Amino acid sequence: MTFEHYRTHLSTLMARYSDALAKSGHDQIVICAGSQVVVAEDDRTYPYTPLAFAQQWLPYDLHPDTFIVFRPGEKPRLLWPARADFWHLTPTTPDGEWTALWQVEAATSLKDWLPALVGNIAWLGPVHPQLDLQRVDVNPTALKAELIYSRARKTEFEIQCLQAANDKAVVGHRAAGLAFLNGQSEAEIYRAYLHYSCQLESQEPYSGIIALNESAATLHYERRRFERPVEHRTLLIDAGANVNGYASDITRTHTKGSALFLDLANGIERLSLSLTDQAKPGIAWSDIHHGALTGVAQLLLDSGICRHSVETQLAQGIPQTFFPHGIGHLLGLQVHDVGGHQQDVEGRLAAHEDYPFLRLTRDLQPGMVVTVEPGLYFIPMLLERMDQENPDHGCDLDLIETLKPYGGIRYEDNVVVSSGVSTNLTVNAFDRLAE
Ligand code: GLY
Ligand code: MN
Ligand code: MN
Repeated sequence: MTFEHYRTHLSTLMARYSDALAKSGHDQIVICAGSQVVVAEDDRTYPYTPLAFAQQWLPYDLHPDTFIVFRPGEKPRLLWPARADFWHLTPTTPDGEWTALWQVEAATSLKDWLPALVGNIAWLGPVHPQLDLQRVDVNPTALKAELIYSRARKTEFEIQCLQAANDKAVVGHRAAGLAFLNGQSEAEIYRAYLHYSCQLESQEPYSGIIALNESAATLHYERRRFERPVEHRTLLIDAGANVNGYASDITRTHTKGSALFLDLANGIERLSLSLTDQAKPGIAWSDIHHGALTGVAQLLLDSGICRHSVETQLAQGIPQTFFPHGIGHLLGLQVHDVGGHQQDVEGRLAAHEDYPFLRLTRDLQPGMVVTVEPGLYFIPMLLERMDQENPDHGCDLDLIETLKPYGGIRYEDNVVVSSGVSTNLTVNAFDRLAE
């Protein structure tokens, strides 16, 4: 990430916020990164995640009790928590070339600076337990809707952070793949992933999924067993990393022992890459999802799992038994980034009629970053339901029985939408690792 990219990113944010504040009639805005929350009746705290709106302004991981104050026409103010404390590690004075673009102020007390602010003040973020917020306008709906909408299109700085988050995660993915081949347990594979991606569990952007064998059929499997299984058939690993608050969200499926399951895994990988090529500005995300269902139906037909044509399968909803989730979502400071259902700056929301679980219903625009994550799973509950509800499902249940021990397949890449060739941040990262 270069300083010039950060400078341009900051200018973009300042312009967006200036416009939004002019519309909402506020003179300045305070963005509160949030505080550490103490467990009830205890002196431990929950893991801390800074508010994404605050993190977006700064090129380092924000500490609790950080505040940003922005008044259009002025350099933004960074109030960083300067504390005297020998029990805990305290933040040090922020430094780096970027600080020249800020008014950096050590806030030794939480309470001094807020009463000194003048005019009509908007507050973005959680209310702060130690601050009197009577005179500020907390999370004004229209202003927030506009800021959420604009987060979908990433600046070049943000794309660089997302690329770095992919680069970091794939080192862990490679180590996890080797640990699978070496016959390790889910817990051991997870440890290898964290170690090689240089993260603690509390630093992951979401809880990494490490699923061996049948467990790969549980979409968000988070158990991580310590016992090594007798046989290693499948590893489905869905795990990311964090850089300056930006997340990667990557899934790979490793398998051995079944030529058919390996064919299916290769088929899903090819499908993923072809859907990525179709993710262009102006395309409805639901069309990409429909393309995924069609691709899954073709694989079911080619592999002999279902004898019905692709058209008949689609008409009967057969692919949804094997691929029951959406094709992907916006990615950014949050893994499931905000604004996927928001149709305009005013905040009008729309879910998709046929696919209500789709997290993205906006047409694609240049600069959006999305995940593309087709899958094919053998989920006992959904297979039983299909068999009970549709006597004409056309599926070979004996063949499916042989595949159930392999669980399922998912490939997930992170892709920048662009009118030229889309940038696949995940494939880039794997390519760089191989060099
Ligand atoms: N890892 C969560 C997801 O893929 O959406
Ligand atoms: Mn995802
Ligand atoms: Mn994922």
